[in-house]
Amino acid sequence: MSSSDWFAAPSQAERDRAAAHARSAEAQAGHIPDLPAGTGARPVERVAVIGAGTMGGGIAMALANAGLASTLIDVDTPSLARGLERIRANYAVSVARGKLSQAQVEARLATIQASTALADAGAADLVIEAVFEDLALKQRLFGQIDRIARPGAILATNTSGLDIDAIASATTRPADVVGAHFFSPAQVMRLLEVVRSRDTAPDVVQTLMALGPRLGKVAVLARVYPGFIGNALFRQYHREAHFLIEDGALPHEVDAALTGFGYAMGVFAVHDMAGNDVGYPTRKAQTATRAQNRRWSDLILSLVEQGRLGQKSGKGWYRYEPGSRTPQRDPELEALVVAESARLGISRQAVGRQEILERCLFGMVNEGARLLELGIAQRPGDIDIVCLSGYGFPAAQGGPMAMADRIGLDHVAAAVQRLHARHGLWWQPAPLLLQLARQGSSFAQWQARR
Ligand SMILES: NC(=O)c1ccc[n+]([C@@H]2O[C@H](COP(=O)([O-])OP(=O)(O)OC[C@H]3O[C@@H](n4cnc5c(N)ncnc54)[C@H](O)[C@@H]3O)[C@@H](O)[C@H]2O)c1
Repeated sequence: MSSSDWFAAPSQAERDRAAAHARSAEAQAGHIPDLPAGTGARPVERVAVIGAGTMGGGIAMALANAGLASTLIDVDTPSLARGLERIRANYAVSVARGKLSQAQVEARLATIQASTALADAGAADLVIEAVFEDLALKQRLFGQIDRIARPGAILATNTSGLDIDAIASATTRPADVVGAHFFSPAQVMRLLEVVRSRDTAPDVVQTLMALGPRLGKVAVLARVYPGFIGNALFRQYHREAHFLIEDGALPHEVDAALTGFGYAMGVFAVHDMAGNDVGYPTRKAQTATRAQNRRWSDLILSLVEQGRLGQKSGKGWYRYEPGSRTPQRDPELEALVVAESARLGISRQAVGRQEILERCLFGMVNEGARLLELGIAQRPGDIDIVCLSGYGFPAAQGGPMAMADRIGLDHVAAAVQRLHARHGLWWQPAPLLLQLARQGSSFAQWQARR
């Protein structure tokens, strides 16, 4: 296949193949070959959700929608009231759209009990923690939950990427601790990433994998790794988008290449929608401790510091007319980007669609290969499902690993080696990718041989 065809719009036959691949990958995702034969699930009837924020509220709704009763717990009455108000507002939208009747909403709301007492998690079969992303806070909380939860209860964390072994070590029962990574909004998004720690018991893994379908979701199993499967790949995608604009592209060019490939929105439009300030404190703090041997992009920090928060402030990577969500190019922002390149000593070069897509997509494939060789992901299809159902990867492409197989791993590996030679450390080729490329093999064949 010539490089100009790598990212061409898929034909109908390719779309059909991508859909069939996604169906079969979903069907396999629940199969965990290394669990002892006959491992059952623990019964789950009563759930406690700790933290009534964006995620906790969404998780309580997902449970209520599936007929599972929950107790939603937050630190104080105002936080809890805010959480309940958000749940009501979300359900009101469903009523307004005719998806649910008011009576159905009332029945679902009645299954959610609210509390400010952690002790009310004591009777739960499953506790799902969704407090701020702070390891020390989560460890403290898991220590407390350990003292109140009934024996045999499953203790799950919705962390987006913290070390679950470290969270489990704060309890006397690490075998009962597991990651249950829901996506936002949790009552809508189909993906549940289940993360087993070093010590998670087989029946706990099985229970969480069964919870996914019970909530109408697809559950994919991962092991502990920074960002698990989804955020580990997503990091590569974002990183390159940011480097690309420092190297010479403008945000609208990167976004146009990505939407042309099939994403509903590009990286920068998504940033503006979510708010560029999301994750600012963590990112800012990391500037002091991050590895010095590689490149980082800090432009998003400058945007926040200049009040360019995105749609909510009328300007971010784009500008927005009052009341409009349509991104418009903003000369002021573009001057900022150009100035940043100059500050970094980068001589800006024109960047084409091909380069944008190679850099945004092949970094994900390379990381996916690494997750397979490390055993973080069970199979390439699992990685595809995570990207398709949690991260907006275009369905017609079947996921990054299926896309790479279609392009040919020899081409992908050669591109990754070229990018490694040019851009250094972030592009260290995954040995599995090189090995499969040398053998003229594919991820699908690697999977079939196992
Ligand atoms: N927002 C997302 O898109 C997203 C997606 C996936 C995972 N996550 C993860 O979910 C978790 C929660 O994120 P969020 O966006 O819902 O945060 P949030 O700030 O909206 O809500 C956190 C809630 O936890 C409460 N809280 C804090 N300490 C508490 C304690 N000790 N006991 C009880 N409640 C406490 C806070 O009062 C707040 O209501 C984080 O670990 C985050 O990384 C978030």
